[in-house]
Amino acid sequence: MNLIVAVDQNWGIGCDGKLLASIPEDMAFFRQKTLGKVVVMGRATLQSLPGGAPLKNRTNIVMSQNPLFKASGAIVCNNSETLLKQLKQYSADNIFIIGGQEIYKLLLPFCKRAYVTKIYKSFSADKHFPNLDLAENWSVAEKSHLKTYNDTEYTFLTYTNSLP
Ligand SMILES: NC(=O)c1ccc[n+]([C@@H]2O[C@H](COP(=O)([O-])OP(=O)(O)OC[C@H]3O[C@@H](n4cnc5c(N)ncnc54)[C@H](OP(=O)(O)O)[C@@H]3O)[C@@H](O)[C@H]2O)c1
Repeated sequence: MNLIVAVDQNWGIGCDGKLLASIPEDMAFFRQKTLGKVVVMGRATLQSLPGGAPLKNRTNIVMSQNPLFKASGAIVCNNSETLLKQLKQYSADNIFIIGGQEIYKLLLPFCKRAYVTKIYKSFSADKHFPNLDLAENWSVAEKSHLKTYNDTEYTFLTYTNSLP
């Protein structure tokens, strides 16, 4: 299972229900990685998407503890056991955890690979991702060269998890 996230230099990921930054190449990277694949997100992240609608051309799975919650065009799972059962029908390489804070934290231990866009800026953030640089089992497998959009510097990193 994979995970994909954009973090600032403090591993912040969001504020007031929104992303911290919008970098066209990062959006394109997210799209290229996830198109045709299975994306898993929390109910809050679904509601933060344009029109609160699932992502097109992907199988959308939304986590909510509310058994009455329904989302048109998405499969809803009420707990991680149901989710893991549901995910068994897909190849692990085709599954992407796409946020937000609660769902990343819940599913990080099940992920083998994390695609992290690191943005070298400090934003005001109320949602964070665990600092993988401090996690013994996670290490950087690939790193792009430094990129720039307007005055924002960023890199694409791939981390891998050594735990089975
Ligand atoms: N930078 C990035 O790459 C990135 C990516 C995605 C999102 N974000 C940002 O992250 C923020 C949203 O994160 P968040 O932590 O507030 O919300 P979230 O993780 O998207 O969703 C939280 C919701 O997931 C459901 N949930 C949590 N644990 C569950 C479990 N064990 N079983 C079933 N359902 C469960 C609950 O829904 P119910 O309340 O319905 O029970 C909970 O309220 C936004 O600011 C967004 O823009 C950033």
